[in-house]
Amino acid sequence: MERLDKYLSTQTTLTRREATAKIRRGAVTVNGKPVRDPSAKLEPSSAEVTLDGQAVSYFKYLYIMLNKPSGILCVSRDPHAPTVVDLLPDEWRSRHLFPAGRLDKDTTGMVLLTDDGDYAHRMLAPKKHVPKRYLVTLSHPADAATVDAFASGLTLRDGERCLPAVCEPLEGNAAVVTLHEGKYHQIKRMFAACGNHVEALHRLSMGGLELDPSLAPGESKMLSNQEAMTVFL
Ligand code: URA
Repeated sequence: MERLDKYLSTQTTLTRREATAKIRRGAVTVNGKPVRDPSAKLEPSSAEVTLDGQAVSYFKYLYIMLNKPSGILCVSRDPHAPTVVDLLPDEWRSRHLFPAGRLDKDTTGMVLLTDDGDYAHRMLAPKKHVPKRYLVTLSHPADAATVDAFASGLTLRDGERCLPAVCEPLEGNAAVVTLHEGKYHQIKRMFAACGNHVEALHRLSMGGLELDPSLAPGESKMLSNQEAMTVFL
């Protein structure tokens, strides 16, 4: 059971104080009856709540796709630098959102933010091996030796072993890389081990979920539960 004022402040754009004022004014019904007590308890997943005559949809968890621009930290909060959570619209800020998986500050592209700890844990669990695809711009074209080294699981300069990965060279100095794990600076370090240098890195997809091409850098959108779960397909 959850308090009505808390429910409204997490499921709508209202702050807790605004929710309290609305409830006291009689703008809220629960299961068809007006409720003027902000501390009234309801069952979040089954209660039918209206606010100013409109049904309030219940989201247990939020799943958000963001097109991360360069220069933004992939953490929830930082005292000195803008983070991916700072880019989200105000209405999602009352939820405790965090990025499920990290990108480097200068990497762009798809980031998923959620307040569902199990989802993030499942996605990052080494045994799940959720594939992540990246568009890579290199200082020079990826050669056949690099493709082979990625495929057989290369060893980084510090001796760390990588799982087999796919490197598909494109026109010019570009390539698409698919990883099944997420070590620190992994793609940069993999190309460095092959004598190449990553100039730019952009995440295209995670599992079955592709970055929505209509999202400009810095833009985000809410995913349905079903869309969010395609990460595991
Ligand atoms: N590999 C990297 O080197 N950086 C990223 O941000 C993601 C994968």
